[in-house]
Amino acid sequence: MCGIVGYAGRRQALPILLDGLRRLEYRGYDSAGVAVLNNGTVEVRRAAGRLENLVERLAQDPIPGGQVGIGHTRWATHGRPSDVNAHPHCDCSGQFAVVHNGIIENHAALRRRLEDTGHRFTSETDTEVIAHLLEAEYDGDLAEAVRRVVAQLEGAFALVIATRREPGRIVAVRQESPLIVGLGRDENFVASDIPALLPYTRRIHVLENGEMADIRADRVTVTDWNGKPVQKAFIDVTWDADAAEKGGYPHFMLKEIHEQPQALADALRGRLDPDGARVVFEDLSLTPEDARRLRQVYFVACGTAYHASLAAALLTERLAGVPARAEIASEFRYRDPLVDEHTLVVAVSQSGETIDTLSALRAARERGARLLGIVNVVGSSIARDCGDVIYTRAGPEISVASTKAYTTQLAVAALLAVYLGRARGTLGDHQARELLAGLRDLPELARETLDQAGELRPVGEALAQARDLYYLGRGLDWVTGMEGQLKIKEIAYIHAEAYPAGELKHGPLALIEDGSPVVVVSTQPDLHRKTASNVQEVKARGARVIAVVREDLDDLGAEVDHLIRIPRVHPFLTPVLAVMPLQLLAYYAAAARGADIDKPRNLAKSVTVE
Ligand code: F6R
Repeated sequence: MCGIVGYAGRRQALPILLDGLRRLEYRGYDSAGVAVLNNGTVEVRRAAGRLENLVERLAQDPIPGGQVGIGHTRWATHGRPSDVNAHPHCDCSGQFAVVHNGIIENHAALRRRLEDTGHRFTSETDTEVIAHLLEAEYDGDLAEAVRRVVAQLEGAFALVIATRREPGRIVAVRQESPLIVGLGRDENFVASDIPALLPYTRRIHVLENGEMADIRADRVTVTDWNGKPVQKAFIDVTWDADAAEKGGYPHFMLKEIHEQPQALADALRGRLDPDGARVVFEDLSLTPEDARRLRQVYFVACGTAYHASLAAALLTERLAGVPARAEIASEFRYRDPLVDEHTLVVAVSQSGETIDTLSALRAARERGARLLGIVNVVGSSIARDCGDVIYTRAGPEISVASTKAYTTQLAVAALLAVYLGRARGTLGDHQARELLAGLRDLPELARETLDQAGELRPVGEALAQARDLYYLGRGLDWVTGMEGQLKIKEIAYIHAEAYPAGELKHGPLALIEDGSPVVVVSTQPDLHRKTASNVQEVKARGARVIAVVREDLDDLGAEVDHLIRIPRVHPFLTPVLAVMPLQLLAYYAAAARGADIDKPRNLAKSVTVE
């Protein structure tokens, strides 16, 4: 999820590009760069780190001027954050500059083909192939060349391209990743999101998949990829800058909850091969042979990532037939764990900087374990320490309370369990196909699940009055309860506990009294009846029950006070959907209490102290 901006007009482009990038930094901030067309050259400046580093570089090495340019603030997906991996990317002859948001799935094959015909690459990114393809395809008309290039790309992309061969023009295309065009007087703009354009124009076109915009100072032409003109309607934006940054949502947390369908699509992109009933992890060095030699798997993590690890361990054990467990990282490292060279230790982390997880990894490495990271931030310490890493591709998560990072961790954990199961021969063709089909459906089912947000609001608001809350579920549903209770604790400051539903009668049932709110999760057909009995037990003591149930299962008895349905999906994948209503309940309870939702008291986004 990077930020893109482009300008064609009569003013100096550079200050407008830098201002736009500053307003888009919430979309990514591991490196930044600009390209400005000036006197027949493409002037490119790039710098790793925050935008200030780019500004410093420009102070040392200024761009003389230019009225057309493009800019980018990066959130890495391919290639660690660095100067050379920062965008814009250029071809060998420095004629074309490209900024890109998204993932080019077939970049490795394209790169091999281009290298065979003499193209030399300077970065590790998937984006650079586009600049080289343009060099190969250009024949005097940028828009025509872009059409020929996008026809060769697979994946998701928003691209903005400039060339010194046609200095008055930039071309933008969209496939899956967002892009808007801003219309001014004698100047026009393009950006990945509205905040970049607000100081300059409020008249925008939203580009749709398969559309291309040819942008010059005095006109914008939108066509499809065959060159057929498309009539676009204008939208007049009324948001202020703060609302625009949050996509119109009052908090980043709510925005990020609603970004989950897209984040899941990104996490799964290019990794499902239904033809071979296989999972494809590009760049993973853990071979099927290595997977067969494993005798145990540990998932180590903290907080929300630990909850994802609980699900990961359950799935790995079931699908890959290898003992697997989740461990709280800060506990693992101090208890002299029995790990050796036949152990895979998987660190799960959004930030990739959590010191407890990092230290647990180091303890595992000292004992000879094989390491793997499931990480969101590319090039982070955990990703570097593990060497082998599967990125979750959730994009930047700004709200302290983790939401889309969690559900993408769950999706990647399911992919890993299928990968290991296939490699070890414990997962048959038919079951693998069922799981891959379920995974493919997840983004759409997540969208359906989130459509209920409006109905959940009063239910969450009613929870705002609660002093104590209990979450019950069995197996994977208990894991969902664990994550639900953490969410409401951390943002609404309500005391909450999650229990495996079968444990209830061994103690916690004593806490249930008249009016106690109890959230029950039941999505597993084989456990549903058992959970229904536990609902009876709490109802008999006067509990007020909110239940999250897979839509094809019965409603747990008529006494449930509020029933939330989630779409039918493979039982191993329900945690991805079932947690979403719980995220929303926590959010609405916190909002009703007037809490500082994106920055809860006493908490930090990345915990780098023990
Ligand atoms: C909860 C939350 C924390 C983090 C935990 C691990 O919403 O965000 O519990 O999950 O601090 O952080 P990462 O995943 O960055 O290692």
